[in-house]
Amino acid sequence: MTNDSPLKAILVVLTAALVCSIVVSVAAVSLRPYQLAHQIFNQAQHIVKLAGLMPTNADALSKKDLMDIFLQLDARVIDIDAGKFEKNLNPVTFDQRKAAVDPERSVTIPTEHDVARLGRRSRFATAYLVWDGGQLKRIILPIHGQGMWSTIYGYIALQADLNTIAAVTFYEQGETPGLGTQIQLPDWQSKWQGRQLWDGTGALRFRIATGRVAPESAAARYEVDALSGATVTADGVTNLVHYWFGEHGFQPFLTHLRETPPIRANN
Ligand SMILES: Cc1cc2nc3c(=O)[nH]c(=O)nc-3n(C[C@H](O)[C@H](O)[C@H](O)COP(=O)(O)O)c2cc1C
Repeated sequence: MTNDSPLKAILVVLTAALVCSIVVSVAAVSLRPYQLAHQIFNQAQHIVKLAGLMPTNADALSKKDLMDIFLQLDARVIDIDAGKFEKNLNPVTFDQRKAAVDPERSVTIPTEHDVARLGRRSRFATAYLVWDGGQLKRIILPIHGQGMWSTIYGYIALQADLNTIAAVTFYEQGETPGLGTQIQLPDWQSKWQGRQLWDGTGALRFRIATGRVAPESAAARYEVDALSGATVTADGVTNLVHYWFGEHGFQPFLTHLRETPPIRANN
């Protein structure tokens, strides 16, 4: 076969394509465990922070020490529709995102409730309970919903009254850098601390405001400052909070928890 044979050119191109696809596949498969380990560690970091258990010398903390703190948390799976803990699912292995695409373990969200624009959701979610002795101190719940361009994933920690926000985090999103990504700014997230979800009449009042929230205003208890140039993402955040704390989200579970306070398992 001569060098200018078209058959040779095709063979060279096919061989190069085959070699490249093998290299990419091997790299993807062999890096997967590292990616998974990184994802688990990243989540653990967020949850430990939300639990209020991150030591002041966090930079000096080894990965193992952080994972030890995380694994000591009281993780439990919730049956969202039943509004109760689901004891038959293991919180360590349960994967809410996988469950959300499994017809057996997910439900369609009725349009009138689907303010977070999710379409479906898992029937179960993992909550993390933080204890102070025998007293519940915080509960951390997963939340997600549609922003402007992407699904935003986060967690909210509630204080023991199950109404006051102790902390929030958004650990994954694909919004525009400098605009929608402002939801990940620690200074903005710190403004959620102390805000309440429901008012005394039971109305879900929490929202991201349309401007700055005047500290002395009646709304200050429930509202967080707007994000400049990112109203669409901010509205998505308000909507996802409304979904997850609404009657199709965690509201039945939180009502049940108020009526039947949990008991520390390993006391
Ligand atoms: C290329 C491009 C990307 C944008 N990305 C976002 C975004 O990620 N989040 C967002 O809320 N607004 C984004 N916007 C702006 C929105 O279209 C809209 O103008 C903005 O949310 C309004 O916020 P404001 O009321 O604070 O001005 C983007 C606009 C453009 C042109």
